[in-house]
Amino acid sequence: MNAPASPLRVQGLRFRWPNGAPALDHCSFSLPGPGLWMLVGGNGSGKSTLLRLIAGLLQPEAGEIFCTAPPALVFQNPDHQLLLPGCGSELCFHLPKGQRPDLATVEAALARVGLAGFASRPIHSLSGGQKQRLAIASALISGARLLLLDEPTALLDPQSQGEVLALIRKLCNGPSPEGSLPLTALWVTHRLEELELCDGALHLERGRPGRWQKGPALRLELEGLPRGRATG
Ligand SMILES: Nc1ncnc2c1ncn2[C@@H]1O[C@H](COP(=O)(O)OP(=O)(O)OP(=O)(O)O)[C@@H](O)[C@H]1O
Ligand SMILES: [Mg+2]
Repeated sequence: MNAPASPLRVQGLRFRWPNGAPALDHCSFSLPGPGLWMLVGGNGSGKSTLLRLIAGLLQPEAGEIFCTAPPALVFQNPDHQLLLPGCGSELCFHLPKGQRPDLATVEAALARVGLAGFASRPIHSLSGGQKQRLAIASALISGARLLLLDEPTALLDPQSQGEVLALIRKLCNGPSPEGSLPLTALWVTHRLEELELCDGALHLERGRPGRWQKGPALRLELEGLPRGRATG
């Protein structure tokens, strides 16, 4: 029997910004399967550029990206991606083209992220952690099965940070809605303690990933490095 296809395979990726500086070069890795995978690296090591390439917002100069699961980005600051005034309208906006909005679908999506009953809540009344969970619900309702999370907890207090991480952990463990692919998350972080909850982690240095490691082992390794080299 063939091994199941990786949700994401990146092969020989190269990308330069217009000033000519390479952000990624010879960047190759595969996510081993569905689950919660983390990416750490110092400031400017290319993490956000890599997520934007995977999401199709940038085009690589060379190399290939194979996604078997539809991707969606979740930004560090949910205010940069939530577009509409209310939780329900925001989720309806992200429904796949042609799918009629209905309250049951919206309520189910809100319940999946711990926001049951929030359909008529104005977005400005949400806490930072609730906004981030709404951004995750928007990605899920759009049909995404590969979440690309770019430092999703960087602006959150420790409690909300833990809640958002626990939510993604649970979504990646739990059963998928009938007929859909299992969920995969690629989570970028500078918070080394978050590595404890992942299924595996990569260290990106100057646009090149190292080998897959267990999260706690990579945490130990990076805590021994000068801070700039590890995570910025
Ligand atoms: N829009 C842009 N134009 C030109 N250069 C850019 C642009 N965005 C990023 N870069 C450069 O690309 C390199 C990688 O940046 P990137 O934002 O991907 O790093 P990062 O690992 O996400 O860093 P951080 O941890 O600070 O978020 C950096 O040298 C950065 O200055
Ligand atoms: Mg970044």
